[in-house]
Amino acid sequence: MSAPPAPLTLLLADERATARLAGALAPAVGPGFVLFLSGDLGAGKTAFTRAMLRALGHEGRVRSPTFTLAEPYNLSSFDLYHFDFYRFSDENEWREAGFDELIGGQVAAVVEWPELAGAGLPEPDLWLHLHAGPDEASRRVLLRAHTARGEACLSALADTVRQDRLAGVSCSAPSAPPSSA
Ligand SMILES: Nc1ncnc2c1ncn2[C@@H]1O[C@H](COP(=O)(O)OP(=O)(O)O)[C@@H](O)[C@H]1O
Ligand SMILES: [Mg+2]
Repeated sequence: MSAPPAPLTLLLADERATARLAGALAPAVGPGFVLFLSGDLGAGKTAFTRAMLRALGHEGRVRSPTFTLAEPYNLSSFDLYHFDFYRFSDENEWREAGFDELIGGQVAAVVEWPELAGAGLPEPDLWLHLHAGPDEASRRVLLRAHTARGEACLSALADTVRQDRLAGVSCSAPSAPPSSA
């Protein structure tokens, strides 16, 4: 058995690059796919999800689920739920809201702030952590696979980026702590 792929760190030059990354990952999303998105407020989790939904053929609006907690999307061949757990203060709230019947089931799930749901969430296929980049419009993103499905998707993405096929998306060394020199 081969070793799971190491986490991938990418530099996204601007919001269009973030959208291209979302578009490159979109074909891997299907029934049962679970994607976690972490990062501070304003990191780009909703912007990423909006671009992914567009790439999956959704033409209408994409609202942030910050207040509604979940927004459903009826895509052409499967349903996708976009969750945002930012307002959760208790680990069981997502279960009480009935989301446990959705996440890890037949729908695809994109979850912002998964860390606020505690330990009960199923393993995601992919977990993205968005961070500030070297300038205002750029972002650094760490992508980690947690299942075989996620691993396949991450290896394919790494090849695409190495071949320079996603403009504005480049491999990046994980951000080092600032040097004291
Ligand atoms: N490279 C980038 N990727 C994503 N968003 C970006 C980028 N550069 C600037 N932005 C802006 O940052 C903001 C991200 O907001 P949002 O996606 O709502 O963040 P979050 O959901 O993580 O709180 C948007 O205003 C977006 O236009
Ligand atoms: Mg958001």
